Amino acid sequence: MVTAAAAKKTSRQAGTGEATAMKNTGLRGVTIADTKISDVDGTNGILIYRGYRIEDLAANSTFEETAYLLLNDALPTKEQLDSFSRGLVEARRLPGFVIDVLKQLSAQANPMDVLQASIPLLAMADPVLPVETREANLSKASRLIASVAAVVASWQRIRQGLDPLPSDDGLSHAANFLWQLSGVKPDPAIAKDFDTALVLHADHSFNASTFACREVVSTQAHMYAGVAAGVGALSGSLHGGANAQVMKMLAELQNEKDIAGWVRRQLDSGRKIMGMGHAVYKTTDPRAKFLKEMGRRLGEKLGQPQWYRLASQIEETAVAEFEKRGKTTIKPNVDFYSASVYHMMGIPHDLMTPVFAVSRIAGWTSHIIEEKFGDAQGNPSLYRPSSDYIGNYCGRTGCEYEPVAQRS
Ligand SMILES: CC(C)(COP(=O)(O)OP(=O)(O)OC[C@H]1O[C@@H](n2cnc3c(N)ncnc32)[C@H](O)[C@@H]1OP(=O)(O)O)[C@@H](O)C(=O)NCCC(=O)NCCS
Repeated sequence: MVTAAAAKKTSRQAGTGEATAMKNTGLRGVTIADTKISDVDGTNGILIYRGYRIEDLAANSTFEETAYLLLNDALPTKEQLDSFSRGLVEARRLPGFVIDVLKQLSAQANPMDVLQASIPLLAMADPVLPVETREANLSKASRLIASVAAVVASWQRIRQGLDPLPSDDGLSHAANFLWQLSGVKPDPAIAKDFDTALVLHADHSFNASTFACREVVSTQAHMYAGVAAGVGALSGSLHGGANAQVMKMLAELQNEKDIAGWVRRQLDSGRKIMGMGHAVYKTTDPRAKFLKEMGRRLGEKLGQPQWYRLASQIEETAVAEFEKRGKTTIKPNVDFYSASVYHMMGIPHDLMTPVFAVSRIAGWTSHIIEEKFGDAQGNPSLYRPSSDYIGNYCGRTGCEYEPVAQRS
C-alpha cells in the first residue's frame, strides 16, 4: 500500500494518470440562481434594484423607501412607508444585555468583529426568531436594519468610554445614525447625502457577502446566522474593507508630489490600488459616479477640497497606467469615492466598513427572504458546489494508515 507521504509526490495522477491544473474560479461568470432583487450590468455600468435605476433611487428615494422596495418588491404607498419607518424607529433601542456585552469588549477590537459578534446576540433577543413565516422574516429584517446601525453607533461611543446615545425618533434612519454616532445633530444636507450613500450601497446582486448570507440560509439556518456570515465576508479588504483602505491610501498620499510615480511603483510591485477594479463592472461603477460628484460638492462645502482633488488625480493616473498595461477595464468602484465622502462626514476610518453593513443589511435580508421562500427560484435548494480533489491519492483503497509511533 502507498503511504500519504509517498503519495504527495504523485497526487491523484497516481490513480488516474490525469494531469490536474490547480484552479479557483471564484465562481466568476457562473450563474447559480435567479434573483428578482437587483441586477448589475457590468458592461454598461447599470445597476437596478427591483427594476429601478440606481441613479433614480439615489436622486429621489430615501434609505427607508429603498429598503422597503428591496424587501417587498414594490415601492411603498405613503401609509406603507410610514408604517415601515415607524417599525425601524421602534427597533432602534438595543437590548440591554447587548450593550452590556459590548461594554465588556476591548476598545481596540476590530469594529467588524464587534458587529459580527453582536448578530447572534440580537438573534437571542428576537421574539420571533424560531418562526419561519415571511411575516416573521420581514419583522426580523426590520429589527436587523435598525439594530446594525444602533450597534455601530453604540460601539463608537462605548469604545470611547461613553454611554450610547438615545435615538432621536424624529430623525430619519440616516440622520439618527449620524447623531447617535457623533452626539451632534447633523446638518440636514449632510444627513441627506449620507442617506443617498446608504441607498447606493444597499444591494448589489450576488456579491460575496450576499452570497455568504444566501448560502448559509440555504441550509434553513435563521436570518441572523446568514447575516453574521455576510458581515464576516464584508470585512475583507477585497470587498467592504476596501473603503477604509482607500482612505488610508489618500491619507498617506496627501503630500505626495509624484502621484504618477507612486501609481507605477504600486503596480510594478504587484500591489493593488484600492477602490479600483471590480469583479463585474468593466466600466465605471455607476455608484462611483454619484459618489464622486458628492465628494466634490462636500469637499467645497466643508472646506476639504483636497480629497476630491487627490482621488481624481489618482483615478486619472491609474486608469491611464492600467490602459498602458493593457488593462482597460479597471475603473473606480463604489469604495473609491465613498471613503473620502465618509471621512468628511466625520465617520472614523475603521467604521467605514461597518457603515457599508449599515446599508447592505437591507440587501442581505431581502436576499435571505428570497432564498428562504424561493421567490425567484421556485424551489429553495441547499447550496452544495463541487470541487475537484487534487490531493494525495493512493487509489480507491486509500493511503496506508501509519500509527503515530511509526511516522518519522
Ligand atoms: C475587486 C477585485 C478583486 C476584482 O478583481 P477581478 O475582476 O476578479 O480581477 P482580478 O483580481 O483577477 O484582476 C485582473 C487583473 O487586474 C489586476 N487588478 C485588478 N484590480 C486591480 C487594482 N485595483 N489594482 C491593481 N491591479 C488590479 C489584477 O492584479 C489582475 O492582474 P493580472 O491579470 O496581471 O494578475 C480587484 O479589482 C481588486 O482587488 N480591487 C481592489 C480592491 C477593491 O477595491 N475592492 C472593492 C470591490 S467593490
